[in-house]
Amino acid sequence: MSERTQVAIIGAGPAGLLLGQLLHRHGIDAVILEARSREYVEARIRAGVLEQGTMEVLREAGVGERMDKEGLVHGGIYLCFDHTRHHIAMRELTDGRAVMIYGQTEVVKDLIVARLEEGLPLLFECQDVSVHGLNEDDPVVHYRYDGSERELRCDIVAGCDGFHGVCRPTIPEAELTVWSREYPYAWLGILADVAPSTDELIYAYSDRGFALHSMRSLTRSRLYVQVDPEDEIENWSDDRIWSELHQRLASDGWELNDGPVLEKGITPMRSFVAAPMRYRSLLLAGDAAHIVPPTGAKGLNLAVADVTVLADALVTRFTVGSDTGLEEYSDRCLTRVWRAQHFSWFMTTMLHLDRSDDDYGRQLQRSQLRYVTTSTAAARSLSENYVGLTLEQTARATVSR
Ligand code: APR
Ligand code: PHB
Repeated sequence: MSERTQVAIIGAGPAGLLLGQLLHRHGIDAVILEARSREYVEARIRAGVLEQGTMEVLREAGVGERMDKEGLVHGGIYLCFDHTRHHIAMRELTDGRAVMIYGQTEVVKDLIVARLEEGLPLLFECQDVSVHGLNEDDPVVHYRYDGSERELRCDIVAGCDGFHGVCRPTIPEAELTVWSREYPYAWLGILADVAPSTDELIYAYSDRGFALHSMRSLTRSRLYVQVDPEDEIENWSDDRIWSELHQRLASDGWELNDGPVLEKGITPMRSFVAAPMRYRSLLLAGDAAHIVPPTGAKGLNLAVADVTVLADALVTRFTVGSDTGLEEYSDRCLTRVWRAQHFSWFMTTMLHLDRSDDDYGRQLQRSQLRYVTTSTAAARSLSENYVGLTLEQTARATVSR
């Protein structure tokens, strides 16, 4: 069976789904092909901090209603070290900008509902998706659906299929430059059926390792502890996790409430960038092109920024017939991507315990923590990165590879 569309979108994570939504609002046809089931995609727990610019894009895309009703707006974070908690007043430091606590899973659910309500093509459980015809400028996506072999002819392929997807490996190796870094730690995350013990997120540096107290709602807490990358979830009973959280998050005059653990899992931490983010008619967006460690809460926000730029470029292509936007796409995104890479690395190395590091390294971390919690200039720099630089701020300079 053969079909045709303007944009074949591979992957129904936040990048692919939002791109589909933005294109639809400009009358551009797209088909989204997703390897997993709807249930799987909607159950996958991911990060939960939306930058100011991300909230605005979701509202403009017509999918901000539930986020505005159920999301929690936070104007700052806490940094905790040496048993003392320090508030970083981000809203005051960034001319009123803030973040929204609203799970990526919820963003994905809202985008799926919006797409299906409009009757737009979104195919779950597609098998053996592969991209062909790029060198002939006649792109076609092959896949198997419901037991039959299919092909989707298109003008453009949007590779939104995450870090382990098939799109990036389709690009000839010689055309891509890759930068990456592995970290000597991972995050063990839990979702707990207990009200958060804090009004804003707590990032804690401790001699036992990093911990983070986040949340999903006024009744659900999301918490993380740093573990070794080789560690296994079977080694971590709920009691052991809570005990570590109590010790690492401890600060004078404050109590952590614990409760039933609903979910738990270990996530490795990695930084990764592949450039350029375009090969002929194939454009990569989101985790397909870059990964950050979660400490800066940037993964989802970068995916949203990429597809915002990509949607603009595609609107120019399909309405004006100009490829200028597509030609500039990679450089425009990479400027922001590298800023977020640096910020994520900065937050990660400032807050985690590297067991191979010496005491000199720990003193440097403490000095940096004291600096960002006492200097307005340093706190402002951290804040403007955390709430997210505007697309205009990161679009000014271009990056060369
Ligand atoms: N064919 C079709 N779909 C695929 C394929 C494939 N071969 N391989 C992967 N996928 C799907 C995955 O099942 C997933 O639903 O592509 C989607 C990619 O989604 P994400 O991994 O969520 O990536 P992205 O949309 O770029 O969003 C980035 O997700 O991982 C987090 O921290 C990350 O918050 C960031 C965000
Ligand atoms: C989360 O709530 O899952 C979360 C919050 C902040 C981060 C990372 C993850 O930096």
